[in-house]
Amino acid sequence: MTNRKVGIIGAGAVGATAAYTLAMMGTCNEIVLFDIAEGVAEGKAIDIAQATHYAPQPTIITAATTPADVKDCDIVVITAGVPRKGDMTREDLLMINAKIIKSVTQDVMKYSPNAIIVSVSNPLDVMTYAIHKITGWDSSRIVGMAGALDGSRMAYQIYKKLGYGAGQTGALVIGDHGQNMIPLPHNVHIGDVPAADLLTDEEFQDIIERTKNGGAEIVKHLGTSGYYGPGRAIAHMVEAILNDSKSVISCSVLLNGEYGYSNVTAGVPVVLGKNGVEEILQMTLATKTREKFKTSVESIQEGIAILEKNDFFQ
Ligand code: NAI
Ligand code: 2OP
Repeated sequence: MTNRKVGIIGAGAVGATAAYTLAMMGTCNEIVLFDIAEGVAEGKAIDIAQATHYAPQPTIITAATTPADVKDCDIVVITAGVPRKGDMTREDLLMINAKIIKSVTQDVMKYSPNAIIVSVSNPLDVMTYAIHKITGWDSSRIVGMAGALDGSRMAYQIYKKLGYGAGQTGALVIGDHGQNMIPLPHNVHIGDVPAADLLTDEEFQDIIERTKNGGAEIVKHLGTSGYYGPGRAIAHMVEAILNDSKSVISCSVLLNGEYGYSNVTAGVPVVLGKNGVEEILQMTLATKTREKFKTSVESIQEGIAILEKNDFFQ
């Protein structure tokens, strides 16, 4: 890609951290931030732009004052949303965020019609599905960020058990980005050594539970969800697309018969390159994993059913 321009809609904790990470890596020529809250995009853009003085490569960081300023981007990352408040049900939150996603997506279609969308807002798989349906774009151009983060959380848990292999451990989590996610530590390697040769059944079970609880653990300490891990995971995906690196990353994508499901988004390993999702990789799942995948997909379908019940796609 020649332009290497990335738009980030929602300059909150995750959006701004993704921008900062990308700027420090020198991945893009230009990053434009937009946020509905006055001053947020402007303030963060100035701060990150000043940080780039010491970055390995220059990156132009600007703030958009209107959605129309987020134009001609190669990639648009959507992290806009509201957090759950005391009296909100999950359904309330889902519908509030879905409405935000709808309006933001319509702007992306207008102002960056050739972009690849990296979807981040929660509930991730359902919002990613909504973006597919709103745009009607080729499914390769919309990709949800979840497995990249959950996989890094799993690799961290493996490192904590072993005390070695940081940065050399596979990151494979499939299914939804929620309680039914499916970490697959048995399938990965540490260096080139199969995890199965290094960990006990009890340790595997603990790694799986702690990975699933990875987001909640941070909330317990900080009172808010994490943003360094999510920001870096977004940057990892953006890097794969802009550099056309054909990296294998678990992402939430629209299934069309793969793994036995259609018309639903779920996390599976894909090849990410300049065209977005270039291939969905089909793993042979063990019977138990297939059952877990079914439960996971059903939980996403329940979220999609809420959108349908509320006439979201009319
Ligand atoms: P945050 O509250 O810090 O930032 C969200 C930003 O979106 C706010 O600054 C808000 O003003 C902005 N916003 C709201 N409506 C908007 C609109 N119509 N246009 C532009 N901006 C708008 O939240 P945080 O921590 O940055 O998280 C963002 C989203 O990402 C949340 O939905 C969160 O649950 C999700 N998330 C997803 C992860 C994943 O693995 N997929 C990981 C971490 C967070
Ligand atoms: C996380 O996993 C909240 O989705 C967010 O940290």
